Amino acid sequence: MFFKLVIVILVSLAAAEDLNFTYNGFLSANLSLDGVAQVTSNGLLKLTNDTGLGHAFYPNPVTFKNSSNATAFSFSTTFVFAIRSGLGPRLGGHGIAFVIAPTRGLPRGIPNQYLGVFNETNNGNANNHIFAVELDPVQNPEFGDINNNHVGIDINDLRLVNSTPVGYHALNNGGFRNLTLISGQPMQVWVDYDGIQKQINVTLGPINVDKPHIPLLSLKYDLSTVLNMTMYVGFSSTAGSLVTSHYILGWSFEMNGQAPELVLSQLPKLPPDRRRKKKFAELLEDWELEYGPQRFKYKELYMATKGFREKELLGSGGFGKVYKGILPSSKTEIAVKRVSHESRQGMKEFVAEIISIGRLRHRNLVPLLGYCRRKGELLLVYDYMPNGSLDKYLYDQPVVTLNWRQRFRVIKGVASGLFYLHEEWEQVVVHRDVKASNILLDSEFNAKLGDFGLARLYDHGKDPKTTRIVGTLGYLAPENARLGRDTTHTDVFSFGAFLLEVACGRRPIETQGQDLDVVLVDLVFSCWKRSNILEAIDLNLGSEFVAEEVELVLKLGLLCSHSEPSARPSMRQVVHYLEGDIPLPALSSLGLSSGGLKFAHHEGFDDSATSYPSSMGKEMSYVPESTLLSGGR
Ligand SMILES: *[C@@H]1O[C@H](CO)[C@@H](O)[C@H](O)[C@H]1NC(C)=O
Ligand SMILES: *[C@@H]1O[C@H](CO)[C@@H](O)[C@H](O)[C@H]1NC(C)=O
Ligand SMILES: *[C@@H]1O[C@H](CO)[C@@H](O)[C@H](O)[C@H]1NC(C)=O
Ligand SMILES: *[C@@H]1O[C@H](CO)[C@@H](O)[C@H](O)[C@H]1NC(C)=O
Ligand SMILES: *[C@@H]1O[C@H](CO)[C@@H](O)[C@H](O)[C@H]1NC(C)=O
Ligand SMILES: *[C@@H]1O[C@H](CO)[C@@H](O)[C@H](O)[C@H]1NC(C)=O
Ligand SMILES: *[C@@H]1O[C@H](CO)[C@@H](O)[C@H](O)[C@H]1NC(C)=O
Ligand SMILES: *[C@@H]1O[C@H](CO)[C@@H](O)[C@H](O)[C@H]1NC(C)=O
Ligand SMILES: *[C@@H]1O[C@H](CO)[C@@H](O)[C@H](O)[C@H]1NC(C)=O
Ligand SMILES: *[C@@H]1O[C@H](CO)[C@@H](O)[C@H](O)[C@H]1NC(C)=O
Repeated sequence: MFFKLVIVILVSLAAAEDLNFTYNGFLSANLSLDGVAQVTSNGLLKLTNDTGLGHAFYPNPVTFKNSSNATAFSFSTTFVFAIRSGLGPRLGGHGIAFVIAPTRGLPRGIPNQYLGVFNETNNGNANNHIFAVELDPVQNPEFGDINNNHVGIDINDLRLVNSTPVGYHALNNGGFRNLTLISGQPMQVWVDYDGIQKQINVTLGPINVDKPHIPLLSLKYDLSTVLNMTMYVGFSSTAGSLVTSHYILGWSFEMNGQAPELVLSQLPKLPPDRRRKKKFAELLEDWELEYGPQRFKYKELYMATKGFREKELLGSGGFGKVYKGILPSSKTEIAVKRVSHESRQGMKEFVAEIISIGRLRHRNLVPLLGYCRRKGELLLVYDYMPNGSLDKYLYDQPVVTLNWRQRFRVIKGVASGLFYLHEEWEQVVVHRDVKASNILLDSEFNAKLGDFGLARLYDHGKDPKTTRIVGTLGYLAPENARLGRDTTHTDVFSFGAFLLEVACGRRPIETQGQDLDVVLVDLVFSCWKRSNILEAIDLNLGSEFVAEEVELVLKLGLLCSHSEPSARPSMRQVVHYLEGDIPLPALSSLGLSSGGLKFAHHEGFDDSATSYPSSMGKEMSYVPESTLLSGGR
């Protein structure tokens, strides 16, 4: 009883006194932090670190009015901030907002958008009771942002009530001077509200100048309906997609008076701005000097892909993620593949090989333009293929599908590219990952084989005791699964699976409900056994196809899927069959009739001694005794 009384008296005393606080650095501050916000060991308030959303609020509620429908008090606040962008002063992430809000954590704010203050449904709602001053290095036309370097006043809404480019009016009629928010340099902001005149002023300046007399922004607005009786004051920031850190170095606040001056000499120091160097650090050894023309600067690739932004992601495969980019210098469209690779062992041989393969030019190979090497990572730069990978035109109810003429041309193109790798170049190159998703299409739907030679990366420096299989389930030849050996025959096996998927519009192995896998080669085989191989054809083709060609492709697919490597045709033969130069041998003459084709690719996968790299990204859910398989035997 007694305690309660004491507390009540204290609270009412506190409320009667005008709040003021000063933080010259935040080491002893008791801020309420959430998201990724943190106070660093030297007292900087770091709102974001590369990613995410950060909030920092004065922990206690602040009284802004005498009663719920009274007029709001005057207040004044000042703070020193810095926005450090990993890219230096050119590209920035999102900004910082000084916020007065009914709650401490802004739980409804969403990262990367709305400055972490609002969300898409509550933005603009008068019930938000949010006042914010944003320092925004991003131009978002949706909110009427004037440019990518502005200061604005937000009231319940990110559509700015008022805003202006960043700068300050120098003292003594020194004129207007521009400032850049993401310069990385600390700047000071003053926000002053006059409760009688109902006027909000926002003033900015470099850290080493006195408060300019003329505010940058001045707005007549009565905050009495916006501010509730008690509110919380603090900062919100989102990192955005580009690498940016947001810092507050010092902050003071005063109700009904001028914010106490910050003692600039006491403010914590920003970390040295060495990030840029480290950020764009590359590995370059003597042996690479001869590859000068094929070397890309990491910074260039970083700029080209807008910082490897998620939006630029074209796809992710077994070997890494692929981003679209535009080279800043030449405006060339490129695709950048980021391959993570820890081992430096064998890197020299691998790069030599990749480069020499990169020198090959064939109309059915995706041109490799060059590479860049960083710690733990290799970046390969290819020509950009505007129509993407073939798989998206084949399965899962494609929006656009290819007609038979296009498909047959793609097949012939891939055959020609693979033949080149196997036999026409000075050295035999085994592709090791032939599949629809590795076939790319240029603007005219010409097929280009991608990712060649990449599989070799995983060979170098491997532990000889464990057999690592590179490739994709459903395309892997049985002897490959057993022996872990890649030969041109294993490529032909994968090519067979590819032929079938193009003609049938299905994946080599499709899971249909629980434990029921459709193995494409079995399906085609059983159709062939029933003397109706065309039954397996992709229904999306309708009746617009050349039956002889489809039959040829399906049978050739079966032939290439033969469990006996030496029974498979060579790519040279494949090219001849496809061109109609030589007739396809009768399948029945190859001992396929009674016992089935012995699609022993099933057997290999039972072998639990074989290890699969996680990069394959596929679960080993294959069930050997599928109904189709047993029916086919
Ligand atoms: C600031 O607040 C303290 C109490 O926290 C008070 O003693 C002091 O007088 C205030 N200063 C001003 C200028 O209002
Ligand atoms: C950012 O901060 C969060 C939380 O403090 C931490 O978990 C994360 O590792 C930090 N990231 C970087 C890149 O510093
Ligand atoms: C810090 O602020 C919280 C309220 O957010 C309060 O509960 C706590 O007692 C404060 N701690 C100190 C040391 O002032
Ligand atoms: C709010 O204002 C209305 C009239 O405008 C008045 O009737 C009411 O008593 C006021 N409430 C408070 C809490 O001051
Ligand atoms: C709030 O109340 C105090 C006294 O209780 C008074 O001095 C002050 O003027 C009031 N402020 C406003 C903005 O009404
Ligand atoms: C947005 O915030 C409102 C409350 O202001 C909440 O009701 C709503 O669920 C939030 N929406 C999202 C998408 O977070
Ligand atoms: C300041 O920035 C504006 C655009 O916001 C530009 O038009 C003007 O030329 C700049 N002034 C100087 C001196 O750089
Ligand atoms: C805002 O700026 C105007 C114009 O410079 C000035 O007259 C006024 O006193 C300022 N108000 C505050 C609260 O700083
Ligand atoms: C703010 O005040 C309004 C009306 O004065 C009230 O409806 C609302 O619930 C208050 N919001 C909070 C979070 O206290
Ligand atoms: C294929 O690429 C061309 C050229 O970029 C483009 O005009 C066409 O729309 C693309 N077709 C599809 C289906 O994406």
